[in-house]
Amino acid sequence: MTHEEAVLALRAAGCVHAEDEAAVIWETYADPGARDGAVADRATGRPLEQVVGWAAFGRVRVALAPGVFVPRRRAEAILAPAVALRPDARVVVDLGCGAGALAASLAVLLPDADVHGVDLDEAALACAGRTGGFTVHHGSWWSGLPSSIVGRVDLAVAYLPHVPTSRLPEIHPDFRANEPALSVDGGPDGLDPLRAVLADADRWLAPGGAFVTLVSRDQAAVSDLEVLASDDDDVVVAHRRG
Ligand SMILES: C[S@@+](CC[C@H](N)C(=O)[O-])C[C@H]1O[C@@H](n2cnc3c(N)ncnc32)[C@H](O)[C@@H]1O
Repeated sequence: MTHEEAVLALRAAGCVHAEDEAAVIWETYADPGARDGAVADRATGRPLEQVVGWAAFGRVRVALAPGVFVPRRRAEAILAPAVALRPDARVVVDLGCGAGALAASLAVLLPDADVHGVDLDEAALACAGRTGGFTVHHGSWWSGLPSSIVGRVDLAVAYLPHVPTSRLPEIHPDFRANEPALSVDGGPDGLDPLRAVLADADRWLAPGGAFVTLVSRDQAAVSDLEVLASDDDDVVVAHRRG
């Protein structure tokens, strides 16, 4: 199909940014059959990033695959405050790294740092390995990281699952159908993963080390963490080891 036919097919499938999406498919695939296949796949409702196998995030291109959490641009807000807090960080971790959006970004922003990412989702970790720039580990939060960095982490970041379970139905149906609940479900108030991470933080952080994450405004009010930045929807918060 031509580029114009692809735009029409995407628009008919309900894609609001059909021109932009067709441009991304054309940029990704040179082969006409692959382009047709990608348009058909996208028309089923699969997120564009999973269809083309990559997502732009910060200054990096994150590798993606069907079924893997699509990095949200809102999480880019974590990067600048985290780096400003510890520009000297040498050991950096991304807890729940998914396909590696934050970890790979920090590897670029802090080129002297040893960056580690950990996740439970094997499909996401396969993508993280292709995204590159950091060491990938399988496991649950801190416990999946190598014991050699216990008490040595200068900077930890996370974009944690933080949607209250009762609000999962509000997520766009295309994302609900194509991303694992593990990546978004934060338990009854959305804060279960944050509590789990904070419970062990001081054992893994170096003296003066910081953990930086993003929560919703109402969650920030109850989490009792230091506010680093905020906008209308989200708040970047930190926990520092004294
Ligand atoms: C909101 S997604 C963020 C992924 C990635 N940091 C990003 O910004 O694209 C949350 C991630 O936490 C992971 N996760 C959920 N529970 C976990 C656990 N107990 N240990 C490690 N990772 C976990 C999910 O698999 C998912 O990749």
